[in-house]
Amino acid sequence: MCGIIGYIGDRPAQPILLNGLRRLEYRGYDSCGIVTFLAQKNSLSVRKLAGKIRELEKILRKRPLRGNLGLGHNRWATHGVPNQVNAHPHTDCSQEIALVHNGIIENYESLKSQLLREGHDFKSQTDTEVIVHLIEKFYKYIPLEEAVRKSLKLLVGSFAIGVISKREPEKLVGARQGSPLIVGLGKNENFLASDAPAILDYTKEVIFLEESEVVTLTKDKIKITDLDGKEVIRQSTKISWDIVQAERQGYKHFMLKEINEQPIIMEHLLEMRIKKDTSQIIFAEQKIPEEKLKNIKHIFIVACGTAYHAGLVGKYILESICKLPVQIDVSSEFRYRKLVLDEDTLVIAISQSGETADTLAGVREAKKQKILVLSFCNVLGSTLTRESDGVIYTHAGPEIGVASTKAYTAQLACLYLFGLYLAGIKGLLSSTKINAGLQELKKVPKLQEAILRRQGEIAALARRYAYFGSFLYLGRNLNYPSALEGALKLKEISYIPAEGYPAGEMKHGPIALIDEYRAVVCINPESRVYTKMFSNIQEIKSRGGRIIALATEGDTKIKELTKEVIYLPKIDEFFSPLLVALPLQLLAYHIAVKRGCDVDQPRNLAKSVTVE
Ligand code: G6P
Repeated sequence: MCGIIGYIGDRPAQPILLNGLRRLEYRGYDSCGIVTFLAQKNSLSVRKLAGKIRELEKILRKRPLRGNLGLGHNRWATHGVPNQVNAHPHTDCSQEIALVHNGIIENYESLKSQLLREGHDFKSQTDTEVIVHLIEKFYKYIPLEEAVRKSLKLLVGSFAIGVISKREPEKLVGARQGSPLIVGLGKNENFLASDAPAILDYTKEVIFLEESEVVTLTKDKIKITDLDGKEVIRQSTKISWDIVQAERQGYKHFMLKEINEQPIIMEHLLEMRIKKDTSQIIFAEQKIPEEKLKNIKHIFIVACGTAYHAGLVGKYILESICKLPVQIDVSSEFRYRKLVLDEDTLVIAISQSGETADTLAGVREAKKQKILVLSFCNVLGSTLTRESDGVIYTHAGPEIGVASTKAYTAQLACLYLFGLYLAGIKGLLSSTKINAGLQELKKVPKLQEAILRRQGEIAALARRYAYFGSFLYLGRNLNYPSALEGALKLKEISYIPAEGYPAGEMKHGPIALIDEYRAVVCINPESRVYTKMFSNIQEIKSRGGRIIALATEGDTKIKELTKEVIYLPKIDEFFSPLLVALPLQLLAYHIAVKRGCDVDQPRNLAKSVTVE
């Protein structure tokens, strides 16, 4: 959701800014723009529009922007419709300062009225524009970074900004409060970005800014300060994955590539997390002492979207093997509930990006109550990882497709491993039992590969169902969350109304929807609830619903109910969500492709929802 790239150095800024914006496209956006400083004319020039980067490129081919200092931005509209005027960069009244901004300024209305009274001239409907006018107001006899610091003290909300000024063209200023911002270190050049992929073509050495920090970049130096101007020293980090991992590598879409990466990710995760030739589970980066985890009596899981569905599976896992009461809520509810959390509660926050505003707010709420927070996260150094007491990295690599796939199964794998680990330290599972669980988990990569080898069949099935007007997904027990996730995948990328339901609840409502126009995906691998689910499928069949069943290889009985069966390899039912996810992702993917949808960047959605 929104993306920032900034450049200062010896090279022409325009291609670097455009490349950075393309790398950030996956986060979702509706408008884009860049600004550069042209020394010969001593002026800032902006090109921006509502639409995609390829349209911006067309304009820039005709009217290029020269200069070695600049900012770029992808906007995802919050205040003001997506149009050219509201697109970033924004400039002040005298066109001296240009600014890009991610996030929301909550008190922009009162600031705007004040600035209007003081004679500032506003062009857009955005909250962003108040920041550039505020900076203008303070930018009389002080350096740009000081005017930024003064302005920041008046802003309420969660945001990150990049600012340049033609009065001081040797610097680029950035600041963060609630939204991520990183500095990329180069030789005779430096970068500012909201997300690492934007700059990985140029450098892997980055500094993650902390809350309320302001950075001043020149081409060969960076200086970070707090809001009072006190210098802060931050170590740089080397990003371990490179841009190749963020390329499509011959796949038609990132989503398809990411679906196909799941077996290898799973294999690496298990190799990394299980000490060779033992049943010892290692979370090297996890800082909460074992003793504290051992004494945990309750767990509360918070997450959004797909990560919430992973959390729901986690609830089943942790309840069944760790014998703990586990509650779960979507972060946007959790953060506003009047929660009374016991001190022996562990809050588990799950997030691919580690920047989701509601999840961060939930975590902050828990921390306020002095509750221990463990996060499961995919992005190194993200805000969530820095605010939690402990972190378990999910190591799925960069996920570019807006609809989450590989990050989900990596979250599941980590939850299984954590469940086994916790049950072990609590003395609830013997090492033999843990080992048996790990052996079953180790089968997963090969079994996922077997599913992927049959993607042609799933694609053909998807094409037969691509024009159904609505879908219902049903599952029970651990695969009830799989049903929710399957439905979410479909609606996210194909825009077909889809609903996930626990099959046992069908009689309490959804059954009224069943007729021959309704496609019903029934998840029924071998399990102790198999016959219950079988009866539910019979009920659907007798009402004319069009059934797509997921069942275990060798299940011929299911064929009595439907000829549309996607077979899954055999696995202990406890681990079945790790397999079920794949055909459901492929089904959604191929339906969306058949319908001509923009799979990697579905309309209105953002990869990382950094505003409330
Ligand atoms: C957005 C994305 C989803 C993601 C959710 C939570 O809605 O489109 O794919 O599951 O945010 O994001 P997180 O980064 O916290 O996992």
